[in-house]
Amino acid sequence: MAIANTIVLITGSQLIMRLSGANSGVGYAASKVITHASNNYHVIMAGRSRQRLDKALSDLTATSPQGQLSTLELDVDSEDSIKRAAQQVSTDFGRVDVLINNAATGNVDDDVRTRFEVQLKTNVLGPRLVAAHFRPLLLKSKNPYSIYVTSGAGSLGMAAQMRDIPTPPNPDGYCVAKAALNMVMMQEHVESVKQNLGIKVFAVCPGFVKSNLRGPEGVDGWAGVEAGDPEVSGQTLLRVMTGERDEDVGKAVHKGGVYPW
Ligand SMILES: NC(=O)c1ccc[n+]([C@@H]2O[C@H](COP(=O)([O-])OP(=O)(O)OC[C@H]3O[C@@H](n4cnc5c(N)ncnc54)[C@H](OP(=O)(O)O)[C@@H]3O)[C@@H](O)[C@H]2O)c1
Repeated sequence: MAIANTIVLITGSQLIMRLSGANSGVGYAASKVITHASNNYHVIMAGRSRQRLDKALSDLTATSPQGQLSTLELDVDSEDSIKRAAQQVSTDFGRVDVLINNAATGNVDDDVRTRFEVQLKTNVLGPRLVAAHFRPLLLKSKNPYSIYVTSGAGSLGMAAQMRDIPTPPNPDGYCVAKAALNMVMMQEHVESVKQNLGIKVFAVCPGFVKSNLRGPEGVDGWAGVEAGDPEVSGQTLLRVMTGERDEDVGKAVHKGGVYPW
């Protein structure tokens, strides 16, 4: 199989199973949107469950995408797993053009230490390690994008305005982790500019969409607020990686604009 023009790797893109049937989160929906947009794309769907990756691949293949798809075992909590995944992609493709750090946990454990440790490990250190180990592959791209999936919940400016965001109780660890992830993004952006690396670095908020993040009761929304279609998140990510939002490089962007820090 010839290697596609643009290799896109999305963490946390395996299929999420619901009791009532199958549902997708942002990563799966983005994989669908991107591979339906053009046969130029090869999306590597990365996740930590081989069984659910296989299910994601077979379900998405059945939708007749134009682009190509493959799967990759990658647990962002394990540096060994990240290293193995990077080695595999190096062997199979030799580069990555678009790295989308999407995997995250919505852990809102009642115990402060537990939820902070889980959040900071999976939602901050995990993406940072993925970025570190995939950097050599991104640098082999002619037009590299490094995208971190963030949230308006990580915006200090939004929090200071006391905006209500429909989240389950105990959202502090998640909000702190996404604010920290925005700084991870900014550090990479500044490094890329200062060292002339050519990597376009973004934080992208997918919007409030249907997913597993809020647990089984929060799949379709929270506190009476209905969540949107994650394929809309996929469209936002597609616009970023195709250059439509290049004027906002180094910022936390959402579908309709830019978040304050
Ligand atoms: N949905 C929203 O309304 C919303 C709003 C703002 C931002 N976001 C952001 O959007 C991104 C995607 O979330 P989502 O809403 O699609 O939630 P989701 O349905 O819970 O999907 C999260 C994905 O991350 C994976 N993941 C978690 N821990 C992992 C690990 N250690 N290694 C590898 N994969 C791991 C999950 O896999 P497992 O099934 O194995 O756990 C799942 O595939 C996240 O960064 C989230 O913060 C979502």
